[in-house]
Amino acid sequence: MKQKNLVYSWTGNTAACAVALGEQLKAEVELILEQKEREGSSGFATGGFSASIGLSSKLKEKPQTEGVDVLLIGMPVWAGTTPPAINAFFLSTDSADCRRFFVRVGGVGGLCL
Ligand SMILES: Cc1cc2nc3c(=O)[nH]c(=O)nc-3n(C[C@H](O)[C@H](O)[C@H](O)COP(=O)(O)O)c2cc1C
Repeated sequence: MKQKNLVYSWTGNTAACAVALGEQLKAEVELILEQKEREGSSGFATGGFSASIGLSSKLKEKPQTEGVDVLLIGMPVWAGTTPPAINAFFLSTDSADCRRFFVRVGGVGGLCL
């Protein structure tokens, strides 16, 4: 059975969770990358605003999910919802392919929820 962790991470925390989970579950890890890099306080502000109104961003590449039996999708919470890169992934795929989610939020130390 092929398992994959597909993850968006801006500052690296969710990616670290994905790698740790990947080792435990023997799952391949793929990062979702945006075409335009977010930087600093403007990246924070535009990211939070875009997330809050449900916008998508442009991805460098469409994540590969063919042949994957169990897909885990990792993301940070932005403005109480999904970040634009994750919205873009959902728009580009049949969400029926998705089976599991994990999220990482602020204020919980090193915990991966
Ligand atoms: C633009 C932005 C908005 C955020 N909004 C929330 C939020 O609404 N609730 C929350 O608990 N954490 C929020 N956070 C904190 C992130 O979810 C948290 O720091 C996460 O671990 C970052 O993951 P990353 O290092 O993989 O990017 C926000 C972070 C950013 C950058």
